[in-house]
Amino acid sequence: MAHRRVAVLISGRGSNLQALIDAALDPGYPAEIVNVISNEPAAAGLERARKAGLATEIVNHRNFADRAAFDAALDARLRAAGADLVCLAGFMRLLTPGFVAGWRDRMLNIHPSLLPAFPGLDTHARALAAGVRFAGCTVHFVRPTMDDGPIIAQAAVPVLPHDTADSLAARVLEAEHRLYPWALRLAATGRATVVGERVVVDGAKVAAGALINPPPD
Ligand code: GRF
Repeated sequence: MAHRRVAVLISGRGSNLQALIDAALDPGYPAEIVNVISNEPAAAGLERARKAGLATEIVNHRNFADRAAFDAALDARLRAAGADLVCLAGFMRLLTPGFVAGWRDRMLNIHPSLLPAFPGLDTHARALAAGVRFAGCTVHFVRPTMDDGPIIAQAAVPVLPHDTADSLAARVLEAEHRLYPWALRLAATGRATVVGERVVVDGAKVAAGALINPPPD
C-alpha cells in the first residue's frame, strides 16, 4: 500500500512529532510526514522538523479574527499539502466542529491520560489527586469535544508511591512515544476503522492478563 500523507500539528516541544519522524524513517512505515504546522512561531518542534528536512509552516492564531478563520487557514494548508491524515501532537488549540467534520476519522490526537478519565489540562496532577494506580496515554480519532473520540490504542503505566506530576508525566511521555507511531500505523494501513463510534482493529493480537498495582506480594 502506498504511504499515507500525514500532516502534524504542533504548538510546542514536539517530542511526539519526533517519535513520528523517527518511525517514518523506516521505508516500511506506512505513513510519510508531508507537512508540520505550528500555531506558535517559537515552537521547538519546528526545529526538529527542519532538521529532518520536512516542510514546515507557521499559522499563527493571533493573526486571525476568530477560530473559524484560523481553522479555515489551517484547512487550506492541509489540503494544499495533500494530507490524507492529520496528527495532533501537543497542538494546544480547540478546533471548530466544521473543521473537525472535514477530517472525520482522518485526524488523530494523543492525550496523556487513559481517556475518558482526565481530559483537558493538568492531567497528571489530577490523576495523582484521584489516587489512581495506573496512568497512561490514549490516541483517538478527533471529535469536536476536547480529548474525545473513538479510541485507537492506549498505553498504561503504573503510578508509583512517590510520583510527582513531573515524574508521572515523564513516564507517560515515554509511553506516548511508543504509542503514537503504532496508532498511526494502524490508521494509515486502514486496520483501525470506526464502527459505531468505536474503533475496530483488524487482525489485532489479543492482550492477556491483569496488571495489578501495587503488585501482590
Ligand atoms: C504530550 O503529553 C501530549 O500527549 C499532549 O501534549 C504533550 C505534547 O508534548 N497532548 P510534545 O510537544 O509532543 O513533546
